[in-house]
Amino acid sequence: MLPSLRALAPLLLCAALAAGCRAREDTRSADRLVLRYQPLGPDPAPFRALVAAFERESGVEVEVQALPNAADLAHQLLVTSLGAGGQDVDVFVLDVVWVAELARAGWLADLSDAFPPARVREEFLAGPAGAVVQGGRTFAVPWYVDVGLLYYRKDLVPEPPRTYAALAAAIRAARAEAPGIAGFLWQGRQYEGLSCNFFEALWGHGGAALDGDRLRLDTPAAREALGHLRRLVADGLSPRSVVTAAEEDARRAFQEGRAVFMRNWPYAWPLLQDPASKVRGKVGVAPLPGADGPAPGALGGWQLAVSSRAPAARRAAAIRLVAHLTSPDANAVLAIAYGRNPARHASYEDPRIRAEAPFIAALLPRVEAARARPVTPYYMLAADALQGELSAAVSGLRSPAEALARAQAQADAIAGVER
Ligand code: GLC
Repeated sequence: MLPSLRALAPLLLCAALAAGCRAREDTRSADRLVLRYQPLGPDPAPFRALVAAFERESGVEVEVQALPNAADLAHQLLVTSLGAGGQDVDVFVLDVVWVAELARAGWLADLSDAFPPARVREEFLAGPAGAVVQGGRTFAVPWYVDVGLLYYRKDLVPEPPRTYAALAAAIRAARAEAPGIAGFLWQGRQYEGLSCNFFEALWGHGGAALDGDRLRLDTPAAREALGHLRRLVADGLSPRSVVTAAEEDARRAFQEGRAVFMRNWPYAWPLLQDPASKVRGKVGVAPLPGADGPAPGALGGWQLAVSSRAPAARRAAAIRLVAHLTSPDANAVLAIAYGRNPARHASYEDPRIRAEAPFIAALLPRVEAARARPVTPYYMLAADALQGELSAAVSGLRSPAEALARAQAQADAIAGVER
């Protein structure tokens, strides 16, 4: 029996829509790619040169579009455009904690042919390789890797502190010499940077955030960790302004010589050594302190992915661009010009990096010891709920216990819905 036209209507509508989509896809040819990324530093020239070299070699033109530096805003913009079926971007950056979510949504092209999972695991550090290979397929290529570090003023602190108690003592001692200087700067604004600072404090208190595949936020170690962050502000060891600070707020204040300690990523190093920096030559870097000894820094970092919406020819060109931008030569440019740590093992032996970015080369043990935030496809949703609660607690609006109980309830509801 032939199906009635009415029964076929939805199919016809889909076909018409698909044709419409294809027609739109074809408006941009395979020799024009759109790349969306976050600017790497104040001087765009080295990155532009890297892109220009690709354009020359491939004959493909690359339109570079900037995403905001704040990780959450960048996430929102990408998810909005990809979720709406947008074909306005071919290659884009992904934070290490987004890959699982976006791969599951079907928005990332499978790159396994060009970047076989076994090769990715061999060439790249375990952290980023583990993030980009999901379910035995490669969905992105590690671009650079981040780790949370403690920056300190060598001229005011004889030895970097290994414990929270030693950090407090060092701040008090430094203030006796430099009255009015702030203590410890970190990222307390309501955004993903606060999640990183919280997980570091949690690990520093011997806690863990994942139990099987369940996010565990309401535990004694988590309450101690959040209480510790709150007390840093309440006791004046950190200025009140940290509750609205992101990485760049902390970096600028530290660079102006206004604080003894700062928690930040490696990118801050070359900027602190700038000839105009007030702390040039006066800064040391150490692992973050913990309750009983050094704590791991959070694993951060960015990957390059190709949109699954890009039609085949453009996708092939996009994969070539990803290969170019993640090559050992590109690793060297990012390390030397922008203080970004390569995600590739071999780059730590690259003589260019060892000679011109010795700080980056020396960070290998820190990067290898970095600890991942919980890897789940619903991480970003749960993190959004968590950030609101963490922010309320560090600002003193809610007790750590209450904030974490609420975060746990929201994370469970999200996981329940997602499973
Ligand atoms: C850095 C890290 C990223 C993290 C973000 C938080 O960009 O590389 O992983 O999510 O900071 O602000």
